[in-house]
Amino acid sequence: MIDRPFIKVWRDGAVGHIELNRPEAFNALNRQMMSAIVGALQTFDEDAETAVVVISGAGRAFAAGADIDEMAGDDPVRLEMVDPFAVWDQIRLIRKPLLAAVHGFALGGGFELALSCDLIFAAENTQFGFPEVKLGVMPGAGGTVKLTKALGRHKALEWLWTGARMTAEEACAHGLVNRVVPADNLMEVAMKMARKLSEQAPLSLRLIKETVNQAADLALYEAMLIERKNFYLLFASEDQKEGMAAFREKRKPVFKGR
Ligand code: CAA
Repeated sequence: MIDRPFIKVWRDGAVGHIELNRPEAFNALNRQMMSAIVGALQTFDEDAETAVVVISGAGRAFAAGADIDEMAGDDPVRLEMVDPFAVWDQIRLIRKPLLAAVHGFALGGGFELALSCDLIFAAENTQFGFPEVKLGVMPGAGGTVKLTKALGRHKALEWLWTGARMTAEEACAHGLVNRVVPADNLMEVAMKMARKLSEQAPLSLRLIKETVNQAADLALYEAMLIERKNFYLLFASEDQKEGMAAFREKRKPVFKGR
């Protein structure tokens, strides 16, 4: 894989890896870097050899937010023209599982990038938060909305109004993080999960992700109809025949993503 500006990209077996690599600025996400991240995600999504993507940060943090130096001189007209958050929307269209392995700081846009992933594994030392209020702004890449959906109105307002940082354990208790692990084991535990996912039937992973994303947004019955359609659709796949035959023959299935 070709490295792009501010990130390192590689593949280890079926696991694609994107490492945010601007450690001198706590991996602050500038616009070039966000385009690079999204470009790498799209490349992995198209790559037949990649089943799962892990995103992590180099140095002392996952990411300390959007690049404040870059934003400081912005005005609404320029923001409307550049629309810097439009590129973030592309992450939602990635069909493969995305796992964020976070440590140190996941603040502002860094927290939002983690929340854009499907699973979040956090090192014990991670501090999460939305400090935008202290800069005279607010989250702009989904943080306000996602925090409210996860925590409810009252708790979300307290975190967003104070800009306080929450520990990995608190984030986990709020359902924002899947797992809290010792910092030294973070990548090992994340890779173990990524490899486990890479052994599952790819079409099942993909349609489960699509259905769960819809379930989070739609009314119950509408989401159930999508679930049902995707369930029926999977019976058109070779992997469904293989998965069920393997179960009955008491052997491990060999999935082909077809
Ligand atoms: N943007 C640009 N540069 C940043 C940065 C950011 N978000 N976060 C850290 N840096 C830079 C610092 O400017 C500093 O650079 P210099 O060495 O050139 O001075 C370097 O990283 C080290 O930072 P500190 O000296 O501040 O290190 P620290 O250990 O004292 O503190 C920190 C670390 C708590 C992460 C602190 O840097 C910090 O609070 N950063 C800003 C966090 C923040 O406000 N994030 C939200 C941004 S807005 C946003 O994300 C909007 C959105 O919704 C997308």
